[in-house]
Amino acid sequence: MSTVYLNGEFIPHERALVSVDDRGFLFADGIYEVTPAFWGTLFRVERHVERMRRGLAELRIDFDPKSLIDVHRHLLAANDLENKEAAIVYFQVTRGVAPRAHAFPTTAVCPTVYGFAKELERVPRAVWEKGFTATTVRDRRWERPDIKTIGLLPNCLALQTALEAGSTDALLVKDGVALEGSHNNFFAVLDGTVSTHPATNHILNGITREYVLELSRELEVPVEERPIQLEELARAEEAFFTGTTTEIRPTVRIDDCPVGDGRVGPVAKLLMDAYQEEVDRHRP
Ligand code: PDD
Repeated sequence: MSTVYLNGEFIPHERALVSVDDRGFLFADGIYEVTPAFWGTLFRVERHVERMRRGLAELRIDFDPKSLIDVHRHLLAANDLENKEAAIVYFQVTRGVAPRAHAFPTTAVCPTVYGFAKELERVPRAVWEKGFTATTVRDRRWERPDIKTIGLLPNCLALQTALEAGSTDALLVKDGVALEGSHNNFFAVLDGTVSTHPATNHILNGITREYVLELSRELEVPVEERPIQLEELARAEEAFFTGTTTEIRPTVRIDDCPVGDGRVGPVAKLLMDAYQEEVDRHRP
């Protein structure tokens, strides 16, 4: 039985109930965040909370998420996740409960705050070494995917299309540019340079994306943030997706074309080794 957090209380999951008038339910009027923990230690939680703060400000929801850092820790402890190699803590904040009307409520409403934590099943290295595949899908999202809103239907549809095509990931493409995945960021290695779309309004700026850029620089692999044309991928040496739940996932085929020699490449391996080292650093 898991313990979740709802509006100031830690309660059993089955007792966590939200009103049908919640604007998150009616309008997807809210933001969410997913933060990783390695051996019970939150990884870069301040950055996740800062992204929440920014998203809430963009949606004009009056809530300071700083107080949630301790709640994240409490959820890990309450669910016996401190001895697990990897876990995630999910939080979402919606504008709150009000009679259905598009306009913001005119009387003060309390945001609805919900959080849960669970173990993250990691991919065994032997499976990882075989590589994963991606299907390109047209990006049909709104103009602000840089805000981590709970309105994820285009992302779900894109991933479902990719899964039904037999792939692991959806590569979202807009105007010929490979932007990101349905729930992860996209990187290609071109002429030895680790390349990814710049953190504009067209992608969600992943915390893992930033970490992988930092790791690359530390490992003296050249990096570049620029739009990647889909047609450039035909000559990419490597490709991979990154994210809190994805970690670093190497792509060996995009649609019908192998990436590079069709095998997991040295840059993905180097980065994954460094990522694993960070995970192991937290081992008790
Ligand atoms: N998704 N791009 C999109 C569209 C995402 O939804 C996510 C995260 C990322 C990667 O961000 P980060 O590295 O901070 O996890 C990129 C979360 C994990 C989800 O929807 O479950």
